[in-house]
Amino acid sequence: MFKIEANVPLQAHNTFGIIAKAIHLASIQSTNDINSLFADPALASAPKFVLGGGSNLVLTGDVKPLVLKVEIMGKRLVTQTAKHFIVEAGAGESWHDFVAWTLDHDMPGLENLALIPGTVGASPVQNIGAYGVELQDRFDSLDYIDLQTGKSHTLNAAACQFGYRDSVFKHALMDKAIITHVRFALPKVWQREISYADLDKLAKKKNELQPTPRMVFDWVCQIRSAKLPDPKIDGNTGSFFKNPVVTPEQCKDIIGRDPNVAFYKLLDGNFKLAAAWLIDACGWKGRGVGNAGVHPNHALVLINKGRATGVPATGGEVITLAKAIQTSVYERFGIRLEIEPVVL
Ligand code: EPU
Repeated sequence: MFKIEANVPLQAHNTFGIIAKAIHLASIQSTNDINSLFADPALASAPKFVLGGGSNLVLTGDVKPLVLKVEIMGKRLVTQTAKHFIVEAGAGESWHDFVAWTLDHDMPGLENLALIPGTVGASPVQNIGAYGVELQDRFDSLDYIDLQTGKSHTLNAAACQFGYRDSVFKHALMDKAIITHVRFALPKVWQREISYADLDKLAKKKNELQPTPRMVFDWVCQIRSAKLPDPKIDGNTGSFFKNPVVTPEQCKDIIGRDPNVAFYKLLDGNFKLAAAWLIDACGWKGRGVGNAGVHPNHALVLINKGRATGVPATGGEVITLAKAIQTSVYERFGIRLEIEPVVL
């Protein structure tokens, strides 16, 4: 049975390490807990906020809606089809531990997504992606409970409306659903994906052009650990802005402003610009507002410099910094950067 606690500190529950509290928080360990919560009319109608690993969240004050802290655990092989292993994880499982578990059980396919912080339940919300693989490439289906009606639903990939760091949970189902279980279809015939520049470079350096899934997993961990700050030391939410997508005309305009701009052509003819490069070109690396800063090694990652010293940045400082970056990128390149994490 779930219990509701009052005035719960959230600093340990958001990877930015911002100090804030939940006025009321319920730990959810099973779908039964959600059903019991909905059996109480006062709780059923209360506004709610679903918290996973807090790795994609910027808190700008205490959280007034009832916080549902998802702690639904369990990992299992559900079934096999001719081509796939269908595996399921509870929404509260750590994403990285789940990826490691699939490899330990000889079901590769998620190794490029190693070391992404957060929980399994949060992974479909922003369709996590890294090193040439996105969650939608390995997704089977998920279960969620409607936060207004308390009813359970299952969604397949089409119904999730996945896009670049995007899904139905950021639109029609925003703040309306609690994801309880996610299933993945892992291919029985595995194909390595090492074409992304950083992986390709490492493969050539190690002279290992046909790495095993375990090697790819280790390489991704190595690349991420070298580039991205450890949230326990410098609090962060990974990439703070989405990489903007522009038309060929806009891309040409930006190349005219600076020929060094980093961009990739997309299959639909548009171009994706490296937001990190745009921010870097505006001179933001290593700068900041109060204890919120731009990581000295990766301009797309905003960090909480005060986490280790005990004087953490406030959500207000993080947002002030983000707005200042958006303004300077817009003034220099005419591009509006979109914030990627949820701001609460
Ligand atoms: N770059 C700079 N300055 C920097 C850092 C990078 O100019 O300070 C340039 C690099 O030279 C490179 C380009 O920016 O040409 C892209 O950088 P990187 O390869 O690190 O990838 P990214 O586009 O910044 C995306 C994802 C990451 C994911 C990596 C690897 C987004 C918003 N971010 O980052 O995802 O790990 O690719 O696939 O799509 C996340 O979403 O939280 C995340 C970490």
